[in-house]
Parts: sequence; C-alpha cells; structure tokens
Amino acid sequence: MFSLKNKKTVVTGGGSGIGRAIATLFAKQGAEVHIIDLSLESAQETLDEIKKAGGTAFSYACNVADQKEVVATFEKIGNINILINNAGIANVGKVDTTAEADFDRVMDVNVKGVYNCLFAAIPQFRLSNGGVIINMASIAAWVGIPDRFAYSTAKGAVMAMTLSVAKDYIGENIRCNSISPARVHTPFVDGFISKNYAGKEAEMFEKLSQSQPIGRMGKPDEIAALALYLCSDEAGFITGCDYPIDGGFIKLNN
Ligand SMILES: NC(=O)c1ccc[n+]([C@@H]2O[C@H](COP(=O)([O-])OP(=O)(O)OC[C@H]3O[C@@H](n4cnc5c(N)ncnc54)[C@H](O)[C@@H]3O)[C@@H](O)[C@H]2O)c1
Repeated sequence: MFSLKNKKTVVTGGGSGIGRAIATLFAKQGAEVHIIDLSLESAQETLDEIKKAGGTAFSYACNVADQKEVVATFEKIGNINILINNAGIANVGKVDTTAEADFDRVMDVNVKGVYNCLFAAIPQFRLSNGGVIINMASIAAWVGIPDRFAYSTAKGAVMAMTLSVAKDYIGENIRCNSISPARVHTPFVDGFISKNYAGKEAEMFEKLSQSQPIGRMGKPDEIAALALYLCSDEAGFITGCDYPIDGGFIKLNN
C-alpha cells in the first residue's frame, strides 16, 4: 500500500520543515522528487538526505511568486504526477497593524505562489493523463488565528482554490485536496518565535504547544504521512476536501 513508485512529484518549499518531511517520505515510497525552494542551499540539503537514503531527487532554486520562473522550472521537470503546494511564509498583525507591503508579500507567496504552481502544473498533468495536488492550508483558514490577519486571509484563499481546482479538473483525472495543520514544530515556528518573542522563547514555545488540546505541536513527519495517504492510489476516491491535522485545535478548543 501507499507506493509512489516512479511518480514524478514536485514539492515547493521542500528545503525545510513540512516540505522536507514530505519530500523524504515520498522518495522513500518510490517517488522521483523535485524539490523547489527559494533557497537552493536548503533544497540541496533535502536532496542530499534523499540520496543518502537511496532515493531519487532533483533540486531547483525558484521563487513560487514569480510565474515565469515557475513555468520554466515545471517545463524543465516535465510531465509530473503529484504537486505539493507547500511553500509559505508567516506574518503577525491585525488588519490595522498589517502594513501594505507585508500584506502584498504574504499574498504573493501564499496565494499567488499556489496559483502559479497550479497554472504551471495543469499542462504537465495533462501529459501524464491526470495527477494529484495537495495545497498546504492551515487551521488559520478555519478559525482565523488572532493577530494573523494576512496569513489567515491567504490560507482561506488556499482552501477556496482547492475547491475550485478540484471542481474544474475532476473530468481530467486530477484530484485536489488541502491539509490544514495546527502548529507544527518546524524552522517556520522557531523563526517566528525568535523574531516576535525575543527573550521569551521557551515560554512562547510552551504556550504554542498547549494551544493544541493534545498538549504538543505536530511533527513534520505526521503531516507527511497524511500527504502520502492523500496522494496514493488508495485515496483515489478523495477530492475537494480539506484535512485538519491539529491535535484537536478546531473541534476541542472550547
Ligand atoms: N509550521 C506550522 O506550524 C504550520 C502550520 C500550518 C500550516 N503551515 C504551512 O505549511 C507550509 C510549510 O511550513 P513550514 O513550517 O514547513 O515552513 P518552513 O519555513 O520550515 O519552510 C518553508 C519553505 O518554503 C520556502 N519558501 C518560502 N518562500 C518561498 C518562495 N517564495 N518560493 C519558494 N520557496 C519558498 C522556504 O525557503 C522554506 O524552505 C507553509 O505553507 C505554512 O504556512 C505550517
């Protein structure tokens, strides 16, 4: 079960955190993994990890917010089978404390970046007679996390894009789902804590762990396992759905 043998898979933001965990697990399951990241160095680290474990992978420096770069990269990769739209950035602020430049930056990466990769992937899926897409949303899309206006807005758009794409391409054998993690312990979280809560890192880490009723943050490997199931042939009946993976955050936090 859950074999991805010879499936050509693109993982955006595959150089770190959740993207790295997905890239390495998919390679272990037999996929040919193409790692896209703003940072070629990080993508290269994931590539080295995969190769050391005997897998097949390639790395590319590419800004998902730049459509020309994205289309050129996907054309180089060729007829893909799986797209993991995972690259994303964080931002703290309410509507009146979010600067226009920060709003634009979050939209460029977290919304336009997803659109750009979908735009570039669809023609490649057609060459493969179908495909599977996972968009990385967030519990922020479900509940609107306090002080995360731009981020929550962007992830809401990711969820709506998932429905739109699932509907438009269902006749072309393309499945599209999204995953909504609560807090997952990755460099994304560590970077956000050190930037915004300097001197109170341990306290903030504990607070963020306890915001999941289960009492801890998620692990990147746990998100990767869900992505693997959703991309496998075993999940062939699943499309147009969002999957929270949240230690009880959405339903049990009251
Ligand atoms: N970690 C969490 O708590 C959490 C929770 C919910 C959702 N998510 C989402 O999961 C995804 C991955 O998060 P993570 O925690 O692994 O983050 P991370 O910061 O560890 O990794 C993100 C990767 O994306 C890359 N990236 C950023 N901007 C890019 C761009 N413009 N073009 C190409 N690559 C770019 C970064 O270089 C980095 O390697 C994001 O979309 C994030 O919003 C994370």
